[in-house]
Amino acid sequence: MKNKISTIKKKIAIIGNPVSHSLSPRMQNAAFKALKLPYRYSKIELSENELVFFFKLLKKNNFAGLNITIPFKEKSLHLVDQLSDEAKLIGAINTVTIDKNGIVKGFNTDGEGYFQSLIQEIKFNPKNKNIVFIGAGGAARAILVSLCRKRIKKLTIFNRTKNKAKQLCQEFEKKFPKVKFAYESLEDKRLAATFPTTDLLINTSSVGLKGKDSLNLPLTFLPKKAIVSDIVYRPRKTDLLKSAEKLKLKTHEGLGMLLHQGALAFQLWTQKAPPLSIMKKALLKVLP
Ligand code: ATR
Repeated sequence: MKNKISTIKKKIAIIGNPVSHSLSPRMQNAAFKALKLPYRYSKIELSENELVFFFKLLKKNNFAGLNITIPFKEKSLHLVDQLSDEAKLIGAINTVTIDKNGIVKGFNTDGEGYFQSLIQEIKFNPKNKNIVFIGAGGAARAILVSLCRKRIKKLTIFNRTKNKAKQLCQEFEKKFPKVKFAYESLEDKRLAATFPTTDLLINTSSVGLKGKDSLNLPLTFLPKKAIVSDIVYRPRKTDLLKSAEKLKLKTHEGLGMLLHQGALAFQLWTQKAPPLSIMKKALLKVLP
C-alpha cells in the first residue's frame, strides 16, 4: 500500500483551446522526471462552457496545479479564490496552484518570465530604459506590467489598431505614474522617429508566427546598442531577428519567455528550483 501511494502522481494540466500545439507538457514532464517529482503534466482542451465546471471540480479531481492558455487566461481570473498582485494588474492568469487546504490561487508568469529571460540570457536590465512594443494584445499587457514594475523610463506602443495601444497606455499610466507612456500607429514615419532613442524593441504581436507575415520595420534607425527582441518562438529566428542580425544588432529570441514562464510556474507548484537546462533541452529538441 505504501508503495502504491508513493507512486501516485499529482495532476497538473494545461487548459486551453486549442492546446495540441503546447510544448509545456514536454518541458514540465522533463523537469519532473529529472527531479524525480511525483507530478504528471497533460493537455486538456476545453470548450467555453466547460471552463467553470472544470474549475469547480479542480479540488475533487486531485489537481495540484494548472497552466492556462488562450482563450481562457482572462476568464479564469474570476474562477480562483486568490490572485497574485501581478495577475490582478495584468487581468489574466496563466498559472494556478491548489494548496493542501484546497485554496486555488492564480498567477501570471508570462511577464516575469519575459523579464527573467532578458536578465538571464542577455544580461539586459530594463530599469530606466526606453522600450518600444509592437502590438497591444494580451502578451503586451503581461510584459508591460512586468517591465513597468522594474521601473523602465518610457514605453511607446505601436499597434496596427492605434486605439488599442491608446487604451493600454491610458489604463496603465495611472497605475505606473513614473513611467512615460506613448502610443502610435504602425507607420514607418512614426517608427523611424522613435527608434533612435530606443534601447529595447519587442515584438509582442503574433506577426512572424510560423513564418506567416513579417514585420518590415525601419531597423536602420535604431542605435547600434539597441536590442531587438521577439516573443514569437516558432520559428526561433523570425524574419525580424534575421533583419536585426544583418544590421549587427543584438537579438533576443522568444524561446526564453516560454522557458522562464514555465520555470516560474514549476517553482510555484513544487517549491523547488527549476532545472532550467533540462527544460530548455526539452524545448530545443522540437523547436527548429
Ligand atoms: P495575444 O493575446 O497573443 O497577445 P492578441 O490579443 O490577439 O494576441 O494580440 C495580437 C496583437 O498582434 C495585436 O496587437 C494585433 O494588432 P491589432 O490590435 O491591430 O489586431 C497584432 N497583430 C496581429 N496580426 C497583425 C498583423 N498582421 N500586423 C500587425 N499587427 C498584427
